[in-house]
Amino acid sequence: MKGLVLSGGKGTRLRPITYTSAKQLVPVANKPVLFRVIEAIRDAGITDIGIVIGDTGDEIRSAVGNGRRWGVKISYIPQEAPLGLAHAVKISRDFLGDDRFVMFLGDNCIQGGISPLIEQFGRSDYNAQIVLKKVSDPRSFGVAELDDEGRVVRLVEKPREPKSDLALVGIYMFDHHIFEAVEAIRPSARGELEITDAIQWLVSNGYNVYPYVHEGWWIDTGKKDDMLEANRLVLEELEPSVQGYVDRDSQLIGKVIIEPGAEIINSTIRGPAIIGEHTRIVNAYVGPFTSIYHHCHIEECEIEHSIVLEYCTIRGLPHRLEDSLIGRNVEIGRSPLRPKAYRFMLGDNSSVGVL
Ligand code: TTP
Repeated sequence: MKGLVLSGGKGTRLRPITYTSAKQLVPVANKPVLFRVIEAIRDAGITDIGIVIGDTGDEIRSAVGNGRRWGVKISYIPQEAPLGLAHAVKISRDFLGDDRFVMFLGDNCIQGGISPLIEQFGRSDYNAQIVLKKVSDPRSFGVAELDDEGRVVRLVEKPREPKSDLALVGIYMFDHHIFEAVEAIRPSARGELEITDAIQWLVSNGYNVYPYVHEGWWIDTGKKDDMLEANRLVLEELEPSVQGYVDRDSQLIGKVIIEPGAEIINSTIRGPAIIGEHTRIVNAYVGPFTSIYHHCHIEECEIEHSIVLEYCTIRGLPHRLEDSLIGRNVEIGRSPLRPKAYRFMLGDNSSVGVL
């Protein structure tokens, strides 16, 4: 089996972060989502992985490399524009050949990995198997309808009156018949070749499409709040460890990970939380569900339920920072100048909440 990871796309829902970098490289619990995807595929025993890349391809290539670090072989498949998930399959034909494969969206996080589903598909003669998850409000998802024998009979995008509560998760397994489907379908109203249309084509043409109902959590990290939610869920599962320096005036409470070279000075860290390599936390409080990436400086402030990317400085805030996703190299501090005023330098589509 091969692995196909989709890491192109526009990332409009995560602007302004995605103006300058790939959303798949935003860290969840201090590890890029894409690295978690590669590890999940590797842990399922697949070592030949293709990554579809778009405008952020150079950044992805330099972050991921040839895959040796994970014991896998990575091939890159450039997509000229984000023309849809089924288009990404179409352009990967040479890489995939006639092998069965798993396709995994590079911005998705799934609890417990994918070994059980890969094993089931590997043993079966299904032409496709799609991962589904029971959701409370299926209206904002692609929804699958099953027949009495448990076979997929219909896929509907964002149905107004859903006939099932089984939503499509961003993980699909196919054999080579999917190439007939992606050649046969036409672009949707939004101009993309939709994977749901390709799977529906398989169903309508008599191929065996079966579900795999996933019981754990699954998150599409395409938006800020979902990214924070993924961060919360992953942090809860990590084992605490202290490899950096914690002075005697500091307190670590609950599940806390202090990475090598980090320094905690006169501060309280209440887990689950992770402090990255060479980050300094001074006279500060870091609360639950917070990930501070490497080389940051956090001083005289309180921060909770947030993700802070590398090389940020946050200092001297009079109120707690919460529910935030802070990009790279950001500086947040008090403004010493008179008159008293907020002074911002923000990229397009930034969002700031002041007290
Ligand atoms: P989406 O999140 O559906 O699309 P997007 O990345 O363009 O984001 P937005 O809706 O915020 O503009 O894509 C899911 C994953 O698939 C993501 O990792 C990007 C990737 N992708 C491709 O590689 N090629 C494509 O043509 C599309 C549409 C997505």
